[in-house]
Amino acid sequence: MTVFVTRPIPDVGLAVLRHAGLSVRVRSGESPIARHELIEGVQGARGLICMLTDRVDATVLEAGPLEVVSNVAVGVDNIDLEAARTMGVSVTNTPGVLTDATADLTMALLLAVGRRVVEGDALVRQGRFNGWGPLVMVGADLADKTLGIVGPGRIGSAVARRAKAFGSKVIIAARRDHPEVGPRVPIDDLLGQADFVSLHCPLTQQTRHLLDARRIGLMKPTAYLINTARGPVVDEAALVLALREGRLAGAALDVYEHEPQIHPGLLELDNVVLAPHSGSATRRTRETMARMAADDLVAVLQGRQPRHRVV
Ligand code: DGY
Repeated sequence: MTVFVTRPIPDVGLAVLRHAGLSVRVRSGESPIARHELIEGVQGARGLICMLTDRVDATVLEAGPLEVVSNVAVGVDNIDLEAARTMGVSVTNTPGVLTDATADLTMALLLAVGRRVVEGDALVRQGRFNGWGPLVMVGADLADKTLGIVGPGRIGSAVARRAKAFGSKVIIAARRDHPEVGPRVPIDDLLGQADFVSLHCPLTQQTRHLLDARRIGLMKPTAYLINTARGPVVDEAALVLALREGRLAGAALDVYEHEPQIHPGLLELDNVVLAPHSGSATRRTRETMARMAADDLVAVLQGRQPRHRVV
């Protein structure tokens, strides 16, 4: 049985596949796979290990024909789940293992933009640092400030725990109560109250442009937006406009609406910190994600229940 892997993953994942006696074809190269390569690559394969950068739709599923798609990511917005369901293809993901890494990066971004770390680094490197000054690089506090978490799932809750350790108050926008994370308020109220807004909802039809121009307009001009979820949750053009017009204090983004393209307006702004979708990018996390995806793929091909079935 053949398995196609769209990009080199940590060896530990490939070892699981080979140990199960599967014939493994790994596409080489560090860039996302092109669509024609993906369709060609899955031909004759029963299983696919794919990345969040790979759009897996009905055409790809049929080209195998595939029995299982294991996404090396927790988000599965890159896969047509409805088509998989209809065609009887199993889909698995990697929840839980990237919670801490992504929550850590969220805090790093929040602190970086709030305390102007990247701007400060540039100032020092460019020889513009003339010594301590009472008005130099003044930023925002976390203590006694309000963090609004949109989507307090695993990652949102982990961010809330970290922010509380910094002395922040936490409020949440969610479909149900999570009293252990913070009081639930309607999203529009959260946006009006929060000093930092951090997005942690999955990308779905309901959350696409959840932060549109109107909702961005509800945020305080002193507030910061952090997005480590998915880019299209934010209307990036509206965000750029709000930042340019001083209607927001800043933004820190790990994900982009048209990833990997970055809105040129974001690149021009000093009060924006940009990361390369690296929320889960720690060695241990990426190894665990690879192993988890491989274990679940093998489980399906051996007729067992995968641990992390989405479909
Ligand atoms: C995920 O798993 O969905 C993350 O975005 C990967 O970093």
